[in-house]
Amino acid sequence: MNTINSEQATLLLAAAEKASKNAYAPYSHFPVGAAILLKSGDVISGANVENASFGLTLCAERSAVVKAITAGKKDFQAIAVWAKQRPFGAITPCGACRQVLAEFFGKDASVVMADPETGKLRILSVEALLPYGFEFSVESE
Ligand code: THU
Repeated sequence: MNTINSEQATLLLAAAEKASKNAYAPYSHFPVGAAILLKSGDVISGANVENASFGLTLCAERSAVVKAITAGKKDFQAIAVWAKQRPFGAITPCGACRQVLAEFFGKDASVVMADPETGKLRILSVEALLPYGFEFSVESE
């Protein structure tokens, strides 16, 4: 069961696409944008931020999460991720980002992806993307 309807998903993807324009990706030339829908209806976006020391690169999804958390927002409903350059199907979050999404989103939260050529949406839950993920049972404050 999705935590977002297709109309909201389309809008959230558009926000992710817009955010990708602020990516800092001079090494990969692969700009990515992400947008988080909060339960309040607000949207917080992020983009990938690379570094000359490649391993320090921050993905778009984590950049959006960090922006939201450090703004005191954690009522996460769904997230969309967008990349224009994707020859086969929709971009999906990397393994590290899946673990971070699992930290802050509910298991059922929708992750919206899209094939940039066809526009076809793919919506999967956080749990579907990270089955048997590692987590502690902490109460969020
Ligand atoms: N990237 C993201 O921002 N999100 C993903 O889900 C996959 C990869 C970024 C990291 C790097 O800046 C570029 O895409 C190429 O890997």
